[in-house]
Amino acid sequence: MNIHESEKIAGTLQAMGYVECQSESDADIIVFNTCCIRDNAEKRALGNIGAVKHLKKTKPELILAVVGCMTQQDGAGLNLRQKYPYVDIVLGTNNLSELQNAIKNLKNTGKKSVLIDPNERPEVKEDEIKYRTSGCNAWLNIMYGCNNFCTYCIVPYVRGRERSRKMQNVLDEFKSLIDMGYKEVTLLGQNVNSYGHDLNDGSDFAKLLQEISKINGKFRVRFMTSHPKDLNREVIDIIASSQNICNNIHLPIQSGSNKILKLMNRHYTREYYLDTIDAIKSKIPDCGITTDLMVGFPYEEDGDFEDTLDIVRKVKYSSAFTFVYSIRKGTKAALMPQVPPEVSKERIKRLIAEQNVITKELSTGYEGKTFEVLCEDFAPKKAGYVCGRTDSGRLVTFKGNENLIGNFVNVKIYKSQSASLFGDVEE
Ligand code: 5AD
Ligand code: SF4
Repeated sequence: MNIHESEKIAGTLQAMGYVECQSESDADIIVFNTCCIRDNAEKRALGNIGAVKHLKKTKPELILAVVGCMTQQDGAGLNLRQKYPYVDIVLGTNNLSELQNAIKNLKNTGKKSVLIDPNERPEVKEDEIKYRTSGCNAWLNIMYGCNNFCTYCIVPYVRGRERSRKMQNVLDEFKSLIDMGYKEVTLLGQNVNSYGHDLNDGSDFAKLLQEISKINGKFRVRFMTSHPKDLNREVIDIIASSQNICNNIHLPIQSGSNKILKLMNRHYTREYYLDTIDAIKSKIPDCGITTDLMVGFPYEEDGDFEDTLDIVRKVKYSSAFTFVYSIRKGTKAALMPQVPPEVSKERIKRLIAEQNVITKELSTGYEGKTFEVLCEDFAPKKAGYVCGRTDSGRLVTFKGNENLIGNFVNVKIYKSQSASLFGDVEE
């Protein structure tokens, strides 16, 4: 979501005549697109903003802007202005479209701006995205915001309520991406399964996927993120029957304990979640299932954590994003009694170790088999090699050159190393 938003920002700057440069010291403008989902994301953003202060001394005309979720928090705009007075422009999540005017205003009048609109349901803007940075993969927003208010999460406060784009607009953008030659499109939304509910015109996620799967061409579709309470059987059936929709589902469980799930306001139980996993596995046997897991949520006891480990063993995720719970001011969980950090630290170590065993085991299962891989890029730090993903979302590295990038190739896996797969192209 943030990468795609940064593409939109870069597009705005490009339209104004700016070009990309490689080093901060060469820049005429630096825009920090921030995230505040956890404390460390926020600290990193603030650290990076602090680290460019010296550039302003040697180049006073350098423009510094801070945008994104962090600025939208209560009082964050004023706070930034006081602590980082050398920042020129601060824009909230609803004000991003004002970037061009804010820059022009600054250049013409020297006036700095802090614009933070607290509206929870701003109108969906249909801007054409002209700048994309992810090779043959394109991001496509189908909706914005979230209604779920999980008790740990800041997103609904900084991104507002759910607003879906009209299905025709999504389909038009999708088709134009395929016409432009993109080979993979990832549909984005905080909770893609509730797509369309706010439109009151009969649109929903299943219908959207169905319409997308009717589009001609060889391409892949992924989507994120699904909420376990809303991922229904209809969507699972469409994934199972569609050639183009990848057999890859990101289904964040957060915790394996019913007590914790209730405190998190997640609206499902571990039994309901496991039922959905069973349905996925029976309809889509080779599906890559990934998740988000959190440890150290308030009131989490050893038994609750064991329940999380148990889910990890039962589901066998191909990979998992693992997080230590981080207090977010203004959320319900911030007022609950907190788990000591040393306990959370121990738990996250055990959780990662458990998941690593499973990732390794699943990787071994790929060895000796051939998979269709979309070759996406050069392999990092490995001259003469390229990399891409299987339909199930696993990263594969193989010998090849730039001619393969953007193409589908059959790759036979000869080796795996924890999460990494290595193969050879089959002629
Ligand atoms: N602390 C830790 N992790 C969080 N996430 C969201 N809010 C928090 C928080 N306060 C994690 C959840 C979510 C992912 C995007 O980030 O696991 O699924
Ligand atoms: Fe946050 Fe929950 Fe919404 Fe995800 S579903 S963005 S975790 S409130």
